[in-house]
Amino acid sequence: MGVLAHCVLLFLFQHFSSGYDFHEGLYNNGQYTFVKDPSLNIEKRSSDLHVHADSESSEHIRSRRSTDQEDCKSLEGFDTKLNNNTHTFVFNDLSGSVSLAWVGDGTGIILVLTTFQVPFFMLRFGQSRLYRSENYGKSFVDVTSLINNTFIRTEFGIAISPDNSGKVILTGDVSGSLGSRIFISGDSGNSFEHQDLPFNPMFQITYNPRDPNVLLVISNANELWLSDDFGKNWRKIHEMVCLFKWGMDSSIFFTTNLNGSCNERGMLDLKKTTDYGKTMKTVATKIFSFGLGGKFLFASVMTGTGSMRMIHVSTNQGEDWNMAQLPPVGHEEFYSILAANDDMVFMHVDEPGDTGFGTIYVSDDRGTVYSKSLERHLYTTTGGDTDFTNVTSLRGVFVTSILAEDDSVRSVVTFDQGGEWVPLQKPANSQCESTARDPDRCSLHIHAAYSMTMRLNVPMLPLSEPNAVGLIMAHGSVGDAISVLKPDVFVSDDGGYTWLKALNGPHHYAILDSGGLLVAVEHSTEPIKTIKFSTDEGQCWKSHDFTSDPIHFTGLASEPGARSMNISVWGYRDTLLSQYWVSVTIDFRELLTKNCEDRDYVQWLAHSDDLSDPNDGCMLGYKEKFLRLRKASVCWNGRDYEINKEHTPCPCTLDDFLCDFGYYRKENSSECVEQPDLKGHVLEFCLQGKQEQLQTSGYRRIPGDKCVGGTQPERKVIDLSRRCVSDLLTQEVQADGHFSSSAPIVVAVIIVLLVSVVAAVLLIKKYVCGGRFLVHRYSVLQQHAEAQGDVDEPLESNHTRGGNKTSFHEDSDEDLLE
Ligand SMILES: *[C@@H]1O[C@H](CO)[C@@H](O)[C@H](O)[C@H]1NC(C)=O
Ligand SMILES: *[C@@H]1O[C@H](CO)[C@@H](O)[C@H](O)[C@H]1NC(C)=O
Ligand SMILES: *[C@@H]1O[C@H](CO)[C@@H](O)[C@H](O)[C@H]1NC(C)=O
Ligand SMILES: *[C@@H]1O[C@H](CO)[C@@H](O)[C@H](O)[C@H]1NC(C)=O
Ligand SMILES: *[C@@H]1O[C@H](CO)[C@@H](O)[C@H](O)[C@H]1NC(C)=O
Ligand SMILES: *[C@@H]1O[C@H](CO)[C@@H](O)[C@H](O)[C@H]1NC(C)=O
Repeated sequence: MGVLAHCVLLFLFQHFSSGYDFHEGLYNNGQYTFVKDPSLNIEKRSSDLHVHADSESSEHIRSRRSTDQEDCKSLEGFDTKLNNNTHTFVFNDLSGSVSLAWVGDGTGIILVLTTFQVPFFMLRFGQSRLYRSENYGKSFVDVTSLINNTFIRTEFGIAISPDNSGKVILTGDVSGSLGSRIFISGDSGNSFEHQDLPFNPMFQITYNPRDPNVLLVISNANELWLSDDFGKNWRKIHEMVCLFKWGMDSSIFFTTNLNGSCNERGMLDLKKTTDYGKTMKTVATKIFSFGLGGKFLFASVMTGTGSMRMIHVSTNQGEDWNMAQLPPVGHEEFYSILAANDDMVFMHVDEPGDTGFGTIYVSDDRGTVYSKSLERHLYTTTGGDTDFTNVTSLRGVFVTSILAEDDSVRSVVTFDQGGEWVPLQKPANSQCESTARDPDRCSLHIHAAYSMTMRLNVPMLPLSEPNAVGLIMAHGSVGDAISVLKPDVFVSDDGGYTWLKALNGPHHYAILDSGGLLVAVEHSTEPIKTIKFSTDEGQCWKSHDFTSDPIHFTGLASEPGARSMNISVWGYRDTLLSQYWVSVTIDFRELLTKNCEDRDYVQWLAHSDDLSDPNDGCMLGYKEKFLRLRKASVCWNGRDYEINKEHTPCPCTLDDFLCDFGYYRKENSSECVEQPDLKGHVLEFCLQGKQEQLQTSGYRRIPGDKCVGGTQPERKVIDLSRRCVSDLLTQEVQADGHFSSSAPIVVAVIIVLLVSVVAAVLLIKKYVCGGRFLVHRYSVLQQHAEAQGDVDEPLESNHTRGGNKTSFHEDSDEDLLE
């Protein structure tokens, strides 16, 4: 027993007693925060246990499917070229953290805010310094005088308008006074005006995504304030507001509880205004929380009896609601929108009990009918940690983690938008980390948000960019489950089908020039001086020393959008008396002097594995052929590079359909068969208050699928001309509790990844103490003794690519747990 406890690292987690719904995923908008204090270093601990030999040299990696590359070629004289294009800027600044934001697109303007803070009783004294660069970070000018030495609240970050119009807002604390002051700039931070606010903002000010002159924020007295002249004049549009979101066409949705408090979940009203608060309409009552995703508006509504709540969905901005065919959840559980667009939504429904997992459902195009997509989906209640990642470089690909029956964490990938989930292929150039019985069964496991929360020495989340077609960079390990050993960096160039170990050990990485250039810097506690780069999608890496005086590295910063050729390495140097910030910007333009020509590109069919099959490459009803840069080509795509793709519709096959109500797919089969327990039942459901009967041969089209002709299974919906209850939002309904008649019929469609429980248990028993097979195990705190209702959750408004988590719980209800 003692031995076991000793060699298995157990990770405990805290638990929030209040659930929260509709936590929306992670995103990044080109803001970074770097901090001096190197975070807790697990590396040291795990490196003692590190046994597998790093035998592969990353300079000689065999090529894969892509056939146009043999050995790594040498790049003549890159060191001199890069030396000539390396710009070091030293900040005469002792502050502990740096926040950095890009202003505009292709402007090269960066604002850097440093703060020096001395907590003193209840007051905060501090000073901020503001720097500005107009040349992609090669040099900075100290423009602190523009903000009159005011202390800027860095936890709010720098609010940049989303439309690249160059609007900037900084929120300051006026020393000695209780008020707040904002500094606003309409010219990319060249000049600032200040404005005193008639309230204190609780969060960062938000821009109307459609009109950056309109600003909205909640005050720390829960009032909703709006300005429609870019911060000059403010008016209060509502009291006691808990959460707001910008909807379509400049509409604003918010929850409110007039004579209660925001902690009274399930008693909130959801209101909507389409004229900036002049008129308001209550669109739903008895709300627990709400969320927006794609064209869908979701609200979790109390069922009237008891403490259960159910998701309701509206596709017309709250005018009409339907109950989603999803299981109801209790107070301890939560719903979460993992990803959504106008076609469909991935919804996570937490499992009852403190399990750390739930089920992913995928919706139909109305958001009401759901299919089970993945069971045992890892999603802890800790702070909303899920590994769910939309791979933005290839349509239909998503990666996430499951919690296997043996409590180990494993990665799975779907290539067809949740239709089927499979383990990731083992990289050709890696060995299985464990002494697994069956070396063929081991697969690649990706470290994402969950591993970062567990402080597994994973400095960055998986990275993909829409304009770097097929490319994914991620930390991972190869074995039967996620390993706690030092992760390595893996690269896929085909959207996650095949992988390659690219770099040994953890790194910070970035994609430049639309995928034509990858750069990486080792994540280490020692000062560093080397940057690595690859011009062939991560197969061959070259090293370049950018300085002779190593720096304590804190992170990489490059312009969002992955089109740049300039990368900044941020860090600090220690001297006897102080530590000062250094940014080293390297311009790779001189390295790739040649512009790419037609012959530098090669055709590539996405999702393809068998060219002889006419359906090869079909994904959601069409195939896409891309022109991609040849790996051997060393040239510049350029800022104006556009993805060249050819789009061909596919004939429909059964794979373009989900199984309908009452049907499921057997393993390895495209055919939907009737669920025995529902056989002979008439399938009726209720939409928009009308009873409908479903006549189905078992299939319904995947939302967003564009196939034409081919197989067209029959499906009919008959209006039974009977009234019924399709939502819980009307008073009568809540009174008579009649809703149970339309309780959800949830259909299991595809159950994936059949892991043999017996085998897994054996494996664990056998290897977990061998020292070679340290499985990342998830353990549940027995009974969360002190459920914390009182957690002071800091609103992280900065996006940390370096060092810390890149997550940003944007206006999730979590913010209200106070
Ligand atoms: C480096 O830059 C200088 C001037 O900026 C130029 O004269 C010199 O030729 C460059 N050297 C190389 C190797 O590019
Ligand atoms: C800075 O302070 C001066 C004098 O107090 C004032 O005139 C000026 O408008 C201030 N500038 C900003 C940007 O707040
Ligand atoms: C809210 O206030 C109204 C009128 O002031 C009152 O009738 C109602 O009972 C109150 N509701 C709650 C939940 O306290
Ligand atoms: C995934 O990301 C792509 C690219 O950004 C986007 O077009 C797509 O709508 C996303 N999918 C979902 C379900 O959010
Ligand atoms: C890199 O920075 C320089 C300015 O220092 C800029 O002129 C150039 O356009 C940048 N390159 C790219 C590809 O953004
Ligand atoms: C499904 O296919 C896989 C691989 O082709 C095979 O190993 C497995 O046995 C199949 N399962 C069934 C139930 O036929």
